[in-house]
Order: sequence, then structure tokens, then C-alpha cells
Amino acid sequence: TDRYAVIGNPISHSQSPFIHQEFAQATGQDISYEKLFADIGKFNEVVREFAAAGGKGLNITLPFKGDAFRYAGELTERARAAEAVNTLAFRDGKVYGDNTDGVGLVRDIVENLDYPITGQRVLILGAGGAVRGVLEPILEQKPASLTIANRTVIKAEALAHHFARYGKVEAVGYDALEGRSFDIIINATSTSLNNEMPPLPHGVFTPRTLAYDMVYSAGLTPFLQRAQGENAGMLADGLGMLVEQAAESFSIWRGVQPDTRKVTNMLREVLA
Ligand code: ATR
Repeated sequence: TDRYAVIGNPISHSQSPFIHQEFAQATGQDISYEKLFADIGKFNEVVREFAAAGGKGLNITLPFKGDAFRYAGELTERARAAEAVNTLAFRDGKVYGDNTDGVGLVRDIVENLDYPITGQRVLILGAGGAVRGVLEPILEQKPASLTIANRTVIKAEALAHHFARYGKVEAVGYDALEGRSFDIIINATSTSLNNEMPPLPHGVFTPRTLAYDMVYSAGLTPFLQRAQGENAGMLADGLGMLVEQAAESFSIWRGVQPDTRKVTNMLREVLA
């Protein structure tokens, strides 16, 4: 039995053990997957111990994705771009770091929701770690345009500058969205966690806009309620992204791509 875990602080709420155990069962892989708590400042110590005890891989959640980025010896391009790692693999004495958040989001939108990103006008709300983790895979899809709106405009500008080598990114404040509309609007702010929403002007949604909230919840978040009220064409929360990023991690570790639909449906039922 190969040992895996998700490390975070807090960690008790994590759905990752359930998701990976389902993947393992469905693909006939003999693995265990647990939750690993680390005190702030103790990330390296806990990871070193886990790997020394034979652990084969880790998922990393808040607030340690930057620590994991610095811990990894070998990085994928998308992890390097994000400067954040959500997947570590311990293999042949080496520590490989990857970031599967962006590909998880892209797959959920393009494959599960069947909504192309290529050629579309994409708006991302927020400029924190959640955005940093997904920009490179989104730009790889070649959207017609990519706009980042943030309350603190200078943070959006810094991201646009950092990712300029992967494609053109426009950075704006929320006021500048007045009179504009977009095909895909992704809420990557932390507002939904506080039952709030970003200060979006009216009119940004159209009847063919996909409104996507990276946070998942049983009911509609305030952002999705607004999108619905403005007749956005499609509403989605981040549950699909959660399962897709896990599937990509699983495939990095085990070399098999698990089916995600069944696990997403099961989680949706548990949430409801
Ligand atoms: P993370 O790294 O997890 O994304 P973060 O860096 O704290 O967390 O980022 C949270 C994001 O939500 C930021 O873009 C933040 O905007 P600011 O950069 O201006 O702080 C955004 N955010 C949080 N509360 C918000 C609110 N009430 N309205 C608009 N944006 C908000």
C-alpha cells in the first residue's frame, strides 16, 4: 500500500481523502490517503517526516502552497508560473512539485461544462493565490482576452505583469468593468466564504455568459445569485474543479486518469 496525504492548516474539512479513495477503488490502485495537519512554520518538518516514513505523495492546501513550491526540487512550468505547488511526488530520492489547480479549472469548464475558453472573453475576479494558480493553464487555452479585476488594482497589475510571458492579461478595478461584458466570469475572490460578493457593476453578464465560482456550496453563492438574477447563461461552482485537480494529482502519482463524474455526483449529494 502506497501512502499519500493532504497537508493543510486547518485540514479537518478536506474532501480529498474521500475523492482519492474513490479514485483508487475505481482504478484498482492500492493506496492509503490521510489528512496531515501541520502547525504554521512546521511544513518542512512534517513533510520530511512523511517522506522519510515512505510517503509517496502529498496534496497541499492552504496556507502551504508557497512552502511546497519552495520545498520542491523539480518544478513543472505551470507550478513555476504559479509560484505555488498543490502536488508533491517523492520518487527516486527526488521531490517533484506540480500545480493541478489550473488544469482542474480548465477541464471542468471545457470538458464537464462543455464551454470553450479558446476565443472567449474571460474575466477573473480577485488577485490572490487562487488566481495565481490558474492563470497559466487558462492562457494556454488562448482566450480572446483575459481581464483580472481586483479591489486592490495594484495586485491585479502585478499578476498581469508576472504572467505577461504566457499571454496578454489586462488588470482593472471593478469600476472599469462598467459598460463591458464577458463570456466567462470566474469568481476567485474569497467573498463567497463570507457570504459576500465583489462589487461588480450591473451588465457584465450576458445570456451566454458562464458564471463560475471557485468556491463550492450547497446553495448558490451571492456571486452566482447575482449572475442568475442577470440571466447569465450558465452557473457553476468549484466542486468540479476540486475533483478535477484531484484527478490530475492522482494521475501524476499513479499514471492512470480516474473518471471524475461519479465522484463529483457523490460529493454533490453529500453537500446537499
Ligand atoms: P488567496 O490567496 O487565498 O486568494 P487572498 O490573497 O487573501 O487569498 O485573496 C483574496 C482575494 O479576494 C483578493 O483578491 C481580495 O481582494 P484584495 O486583493 O483587494 O484584498 C478579494 N476580496 C476579499 N474580500 C473582498 C471583498 N469584500 N470585495 C472584493 N474583493 C474581495
